Amino acid sequence: MLEVADLEVRYGAIQAVRGISLTAKRGELIALLGANGAGKSTTIMCIAGALKPAAGSIRIAGEDVTSAGPEAMIRKGLATVTETRDVFPDLTVAENLMLGSYIRRHDRAGVTEDRERMLTLFPRLAERSSQPAGTLSGGEQQMLVIARAMMSRPKVLLLDEPSLGLAPAIVDQIFEMIGVLKRSGLTIVLVEQNIAKALEVADRAYVMRLGRIAASGTAGEISAATDFNAVYLGG
Ligand SMILES: Nc1ncnc2c1ncn2[C@@H]1O[C@H](COP(=O)(O)OP(=O)(O)OP(=O)(O)O)[C@@H](O)[C@H]1O
Ligand SMILES: [Mg+2]
Repeated sequence: MLEVADLEVRYGAIQAVRGISLTAKRGELIALLGANGAGKSTTIMCIAGALKPAAGSIRIAGEDVTSAGPEAMIRKGLATVTETRDVFPDLTVAENLMLGSYIRRHDRAGVTEDRERMLTLFPRLAERSSQPAGTLSGGEQQMLVIARAMMSRPKVLLLDEPSLGLAPAIVDQIFEMIGVLKRSGLTIVLVEQNIAKALEVADRAYVMRLGRIAASGTAGEISAATDFNAVYLGG
């Protein structure tokens, strides 16, 4: 479903991603792990079309989408939840959700159906649907950005550190939702610092180090074979 090959991304003279390759099959959840600065978010932003790669290719369902911009990527079936958890604070929860369906706004029945599905999946959002999104807690905002991303009916969902800064009980809820989305057949790329949680839900994992893939394997192999202290503290 998603094939990234030999991807390189630069910020001027800084080469943040130095030739990474990864794949995710339909319905698979892959975890992208690694220390701060390893290049995880850069990889995600490049796949999302927000950064142009210096080299390499990106394919979705076999189609080359390497040079597509952010809106084109959404139309190709890719939705992204960035690290920054951006909601439109003055718009209500329901209005934020509707913005996620912008590319298919003419499919009114489908959009209504998806909104109901997301409000069922995230009851905390349903209770707060007419509240301005800026008044939500951090965990609720994270639920909202995931639900909003799902409103474009993606084939592939990229999640950059969804558990960052959230209380353990909320983290558990977010991971439960991720599990539900995975079981519905969605392909997911999950960037996480919470390695234990990520490897619980992941099928396979890639460990990034200094812009490269340092290790990859099934979630079981990676948790057994990888010295995470070295990966995370060694930089
Ligand atoms: N806009 C930018 N301009 C210049 N360098 C950048 C920019 N964004 C990121 N970098 C650099 O690229 C490298 C990779 O950063 P990136 O944000 O992709 O790492 P990360 O793995 O997501 O880290 P974290 O776990 O802290 O989110 C870092 O060395 C960072 O300083
Ligand atoms: Mg990051």
